[in-house]
Amino acid sequence: MTQRLTIRKPDDWHLHVRDNEMMRAALPYTARNFGRAILMPNLLPPVRTTAEGAAYRQRALVALPAGSTFTPLITCYLTDDTDPDDVERGFKEGVFTAVKLYPANATTNSAAGVTDYKLIERVLARMEKIDMRLLIHGEEVDPTVDVFDREAVFIERKLIPMTKQFPGLKIVLEHLSSKIGVEYIRSAGGQVGSSITPYHLQLNRTDWLGWGNRPYMYCMPVIKTEADRLALRDAATSGESCFFLGTDSAPHSVAKKLATTGAAGLFNAPVAIETYAQVFEEDGKLHNLEAFASLNGPKHYGLPPNEETITLEKVSWIAPEQVDVEGPEERALVYRGGESIPWRVVHEGQGG
Ligand code: NCD
Ligand code: ZN
Repeated sequence: MTQRLTIRKPDDWHLHVRDNEMMRAALPYTARNFGRAILMPNLLPPVRTTAEGAAYRQRALVALPAGSTFTPLITCYLTDDTDPDDVERGFKEGVFTAVKLYPANATTNSAAGVTDYKLIERVLARMEKIDMRLLIHGEEVDPTVDVFDREAVFIERKLIPMTKQFPGLKIVLEHLSSKIGVEYIRSAGGQVGSSITPYHLQLNRTDWLGWGNRPYMYCMPVIKTEADRLALRDAATSGESCFFLGTDSAPHSVAKKLATTGAAGLFNAPVAIETYAQVFEEDGKLHNLEAFASLNGPKHYGLPPNEETITLEKVSWIAPEQVDVEGPEERALVYRGGESIPWRVVHEGQGG
């Protein structure tokens, strides 16, 4: 008999779908399996105000397939001049679910990010007061810090002082990538939770760089060592409530990925929940998949879990190599494209 697993519908707490044509191409892959997703605001220009957030949410709703029950959750891109009153208004009106902090120049489209942490204190104090989540791209951009140490140094220099200064501010350290990061989150007493991507659970830096440079494994934070990967797997599959699902699916055109300075980001939405299921099964932890994918995230955000369910079954299928995009971006290659994926989601009219 085919092995099956039914869980509450998962949410994706870290997702890039971009805008316009790319959003129309990418969003349906998430909408078919997930109840909600946090849409990252690093557009060009970024989503910085309540007005921009409301307009982006509208564009996302229009990009959804007909009849979809998926809910996009919008985030505010924090800059040195973000207005605390506007953030509060956006949160109270239900436009913004959270605020996203990018250190300036840490990753794709982060040039408008934070340069001076003194300047954002008023916003953080307001968020602490209104119980609004802060999402952080936690990498130190001081050029003297090695790229593999950026997460650890950010925790030390920026995150720990921030948690002390704002003890009531609930934080998400996004796309956790290191053993040091895992140990820190476990010690943070619930104030800081962490999203973990499917690809940081599967890849180490030898996969990325050891057999030729593989630009489709290049992302920020960069893939690290095997010891880091194992620590992340242990954390994700443990069921501990501070670790939850966030794919960081981040489509880029082929041209941008293969440029001389290639864009960071992996488009994994077409294989995301299936890949997590594979990882949990490999580690004998399928019974913890629902906690990681569907319960821990809502709990950290103070939101109810989804009432709907999805069913996964152990039937293999071949992941699409690429997704076509209308317009100049043309196409985005898919993480694990062409590979056999051992789990699939049962959709209506399929399986039985
Ligand atoms: C993301 C993107 O492309 O927007 N890239 C990435 O490598 N993860 C941004 C981010 O989350 O760092
Ligand atoms: Zn991201």
